[in-house]
Amino acid sequence: MVHRADSKRFSAALGGSVPNVLGHRGAAGHAPENTLPSLLKAHELGISWVEFDVKLSRDGVPVLFHDDTLDRNTDGRGPIADQDLQALRNYDAGAWFDAAFAGTPLPTLDEGLAVLARCGMGANVEIKPSKGREAETGMAVGKALAETWPTDLPLPLVSSFSAAALQACAVAAPDLARALLVSAVPKDWRAQLDAVETDTLHCMSQRLRERKAKEILKAGFILRCFTVNRPNRARQLLDWGVHGIISDYPDRILKIA
Ligand code: G3P
Ligand code: MG
Repeated sequence: MVHRADSKRFSAALGGSVPNVLGHRGAAGHAPENTLPSLLKAHELGISWVEFDVKLSRDGVPVLFHDDTLDRNTDGRGPIADQDLQALRNYDAGAWFDAAFAGTPLPTLDEGLAVLARCGMGANVEIKPSKGREAETGMAVGKALAETWPTDLPLPLVSSFSAAALQACAVAAPDLARALLVSAVPKDWRAQLDAVETDTLHCMSQRLRERKAKEILKAGFILRCFTVNRPNRARQLLDWGVHGIISDYPDRILKIA
């Protein structure tokens, strides 16, 4: 068994510089998710770290995007993995949220990193592979972060629901901290963390009970929760000892954290 107390091997995964409040998809309650305005909004709200999702265009370019298809939050249609970056650039990823954001493009990871550098903001980069592209996406994101992560920023924390993506990312960028994402905490959570060589678990707040949280924390692991928009729930989780909260309204959580 591996955990914080007895392993130097996973020291990169300790996440020492990650604050206890992170903006979700930038600040998704205030601006269209996973866009540059959303990252900028988080900074404007005083948030020092954001989470965002990254997947690949057909031609293998990492872009900030959550869903497998373009339908929900752009004026495009169909799987994002079916289109090259050049085509993706034409879509509006802001108007669905509010007319004030009409014309906001779907950003590349490079553009996202440039905003982080400008704002001095850290990031939890979630690798969100389209189906069948898990290792390819993990490798591409790891490579991009290893090569282009702004030197002035604290190193990013990479996370994914996909163990294959995290393992591939670790090959490309072995020094980056990793977190495994789960909805409900599975019975074999320790084995799953071992498989991706991390001691950090991010789980869905709604599925977490106090007893399970305490079991994980008492064993010395790092635990964060998504997506927590009610300050009362955030307070409760932090009181249990949860290390971090990922929120669409990080400003609300910051007030009580
Ligand atoms: O990384 C935490 C959270 O973003 C995971 O869920 O679906 O919002 O990417 P999702
Ligand atoms: Mg995410």
